[in-house]
Amino acid sequence: MEYPEQRLAGRTVIVTGGGYGIGRAYAHRVAAEGARVVVAEIDGDAGERVAKEIAAEGYEAFAVETDVADETSVNHMVDASLGAFGRIDVLINNAAMFTKVAVEHTTLEGLTFEHFEKVLRVNVLGTWLCSRAVIPDMRKRSYGKIINISSGTVFKGAGGTMLQYVTSKSALLGFTRSLARTVGPDGIRVNCVAPGGTMTDDINTPEKEQAMFERARSERAIVKVETPEDLVGIISFLSSADSDFITGQTILVDGGAFMH
Ligand SMILES: NC(=O)c1ccc[n+]([C@@H]2O[C@H](COP(=O)([O-])OP(=O)(O)OC[C@H]3O[C@@H](n4cnc5c(N)ncnc54)[C@H](O)[C@@H]3O)[C@@H](O)[C@H]2O)c1
Repeated sequence: MEYPEQRLAGRTVIVTGGGYGIGRAYAHRVAAEGARVVVAEIDGDAGERVAKEIAAEGYEAFAVETDVADETSVNHMVDASLGAFGRIDVLINNAAMFTKVAVEHTTLEGLTFEHFEKVLRVNVLGTWLCSRAVIPDMRKRSYGKIINISSGTVFKGAGGTMLQYVTSKSALLGFTRSLARTVGPDGIRVNCVAPGGTMTDDINTPEKEQAMFERARSERAIVKVETPEDLVGIISFLSSADSDFITGQTILVDGGAFMH
């Protein structure tokens, strides 16, 4: 699709976890709107693949293998981004333990301390580490955008098997609000997007799609299976100057399954 407005022209956008799923769709969309994209992904080959796809469409992107839960790796991500593009305008904190790096579905009794801790390290501390690392460059221009990715599950809870995941995603709401107040005076906007249950290529099976449609029918005001394409618009908006007076907010994009 063509975006003649090019509202992200001149902006460098880092998408963590951009090698698969919804993050890959974010990377493609912001590139198509004129951004130079850094695909920061723990699976180096997947990151390279997405950067090549974007380049093949005539847009600018490069990949940097990154573990968001590792300080040295995150610092390298920032150095490599600045080396390639000279500035960082937008950080999309999308990487998480979820499908590709899997969250274990366990019973309450089966959930181990080690697994819970690992999920918090990646999903919460990883978001903090990446944010902390990009803020100095954003401060230089008194401008920047940080977008954290939570989940609609935090508003409803998600019985039994995903306690550690929902806990981690809930933390991002408070993190978003507190960081927004901390760096607002520096011109840095911090917002959060909470997707509803979303069908990605990686988890798509006819049975799963049918189950998601049935759930949508019972829960959503807009009855359809959510896909990454339903989420890219809000990411583009929050990355752009059009949202410059919005900060500290969490926007639920789930077709009206939960209303707040
Ligand atoms: N798909 C859904 O139903 C849904 C719903 C709500 C929220 N979300 C959130 O949206 C985001 C993307 O979800 P998805 O469905 O594409 O999941 P996914 O598992 O396919 O994508 C997550 C990406 O993060 C990468 N990653 C994992 N650990 C990493 C690390 N330590 N460092 C760097 N990269 C790492 C993975 O390799 C993968 O590319 C996640 O934050 C997820 O929690 C997804």
